[in-house]
Amino acid sequence: MKVLGIESSCDETGVAVYDTSVGGSAGLRAHAVYSQIDLHAQYGGVVPELASRDHVRKLLPLIRQTLDEAGLGVADIDGVAYTAGPGLVGALLVGAAVGRSLAWALEVPALAVHHMEGHLLAPLLEDDAPAPPFVALLVSGGHTQLIAVEAIGRYRLLGETLDDAAGEAFDKTAKMMGLPYPGGPQLAKLAESGTPGAFRFSRPMTDRPGLDFSFSGLKTQVLLAWRDSDQGGQTRADIARGFEDAVVDTLAIKCERALDAAESDTLIVAGGVGANKRLRARLTELCERRGGRACFPRPALCTDNGAMIAFAGALRLAAGQRDDAAIRAAPRWDMATLPAL
Ligand code: KG4
Ligand code: ZN
Repeated sequence: MKVLGIESSCDETGVAVYDTSVGGSAGLRAHAVYSQIDLHAQYGGVVPELASRDHVRKLLPLIRQTLDEAGLGVADIDGVAYTAGPGLVGALLVGAAVGRSLAWALEVPALAVHHMEGHLLAPLLEDDAPAPPFVALLVSGGHTQLIAVEAIGRYRLLGETLDDAAGEAFDKTAKMMGLPYPGGPQLAKLAESGTPGAFRFSRPMTDRPGLDFSFSGLKTQVLLAWRDSDQGGQTRADIARGFEDAVVDTLAIKCERALDAAESDTLIVAGGVGANKRLRARLTELCERRGGRACFPRPALCTDNGAMIAFAGALRLAAGQRDDAAIRAAPRWDMATLPAL
């Protein structure tokens, strides 16, 4: 089954084709992402109305380009999967309207995909993927969650952030130190030349039991350190390193607890912050020490993309799930309400 996937929940237009008859990473016949970063950079964050309008401009050309790259015509598509939420409602509506209408015109089934399930399943698109049960760490710009994955579609929330998401903390901290939007990857790059231990920030909520996170206090600590510093180049790198180490350490401590709680040694990691090199190294080492493993999507599939939506939708469509003719856009949508596969 060849499934066209469409992602338009925020500031990236993503399109992909996933072929379930091939499976594994080779099943990804083509994928393309158009990022709106340049459009929003001057405002220091995503402007929802501009995002929607740009999806309108970019989506159809991107679908044509992706089909060309896959060597397929539109009539070869057996199903359409689109992100229905959570996300910005106007942005979601673009992908939903195009995806659902295309499926209607082609007389093929459509499936409304949960964006976070897309992220969560992305590591399973890679070769040699583990099978559930396992623990998933979802770390994006909007979410920080630890989830016990009992089966595909059966998700039990173990813990989540009480305030900022990990990616949001990266972005806000970067902005505070004068780095351009979106700051997360830039802050991580800067941290590479920082001296470990030069600045030490707290590991929030690790001194008490539980699997929830809080990153907003950490951001304030960094702000105070930055204000009190000489704000020179090396200091900036040192602070970035101190911040990154605090986030990575905190995530690793909670992942270890979650693995203990779920009696598992397999961790899958997804979402934009999953592209962070130090986090990948740290979690890989943690799982290996336990005799298990940590699995990540390739960095390009950590941040928003169409491949994860095509893949998640393909798994559900191949299992016989179908949506009705409604165009679905759900800005808020609890992943625990998803049906099991
Ligand atoms: O999953 P994603 O593309 O979008 C959401 O669904 O939110 O995640 C984007 C987030 C941003 O906050 C970005 O700064 C962060 O992921 N991010 C990173 C890195 N690459 C992306 N944070 C830390 N290190 C990175 N290398
Ligand atoms: Zn995302």
